[in-house]
Amino acid sequence: MNQLFEAIDFVENPVYEGIISDISTQQFSIVENFFTQYEVEILRQSLLRKHEEDTFKKAAIGNRVNENIIKSIRGDMILWMNEGQADAHEKLFFDKINDLVDYLNRTCFMGILQKEFHYAIYPEGTFYKRHLDTFQNDDRRKLSFVCYLNEDGWLPENGGELVLYLNENGQETEKVIYPFPGRVVIFESQILEHEVKPVNTERLSITGWLKTR
Ligand code: OGA
Ligand code: MN
Repeated sequence: MNQLFEAIDFVENPVYEGIISDISTQQFSIVENFFTQYEVEILRQSLLRKHEEDTFKKAAIGNRVNENIIKSIRGDMILWMNEGQADAHEKLFFDKINDLVDYLNRTCFMGILQKEFHYAIYPEGTFYKRHLDTFQNDDRRKLSFVCYLNEDGWLPENGGELVLYLNENGQETEKVIYPFPGRVVIFESQILEHEVKPVNTERLSITGWLKTR
């Protein structure tokens, strides 16, 4: 295809443009209804089915750390997703992610070549202490992506807020984000420290990273 046709072929996507401008100005973006209510339901069912099959594992934080120390840092259970073996429901998830990645690569030259995603369940009483997503010797993580799969009617008092620690003119501020279903949060993995506050009601999500190199 010649360049002229490629240019005509390009359709600007207002949602993606919003993400790009948010990230360039404030290092994070919150997107409501990134997934439709129907898609959230499908993905939640898919997570719950896998959980029933008992395939989730306690999340880790690196080698040579004992279980009690891990528990004092994070208490979620995770299951890595495998795009190659995705069922119809998961394909719907990866289709949307791939569309976003293509757009980012095309418009921002972001060079996202890899991605990794896992389901996550935070049982009641669990949390994830303040951290940076690149702490596991993996500086390829460029953007963190979290999508909440909680039930409709999720209440702020259910806990499990995501708190982003921002630096505004040398002053640290906290951005509190409730894990409402369908909501997606994208942020710069190498820059923003964040935490998940203690959960009062089981909290469901898919979390992942868009990676360079
Ligand atoms: C993580 C994480 C945030 C969230 O899994 O690294 O920070 O809101 N998750 O679930
Ligand atoms: Mn994190």
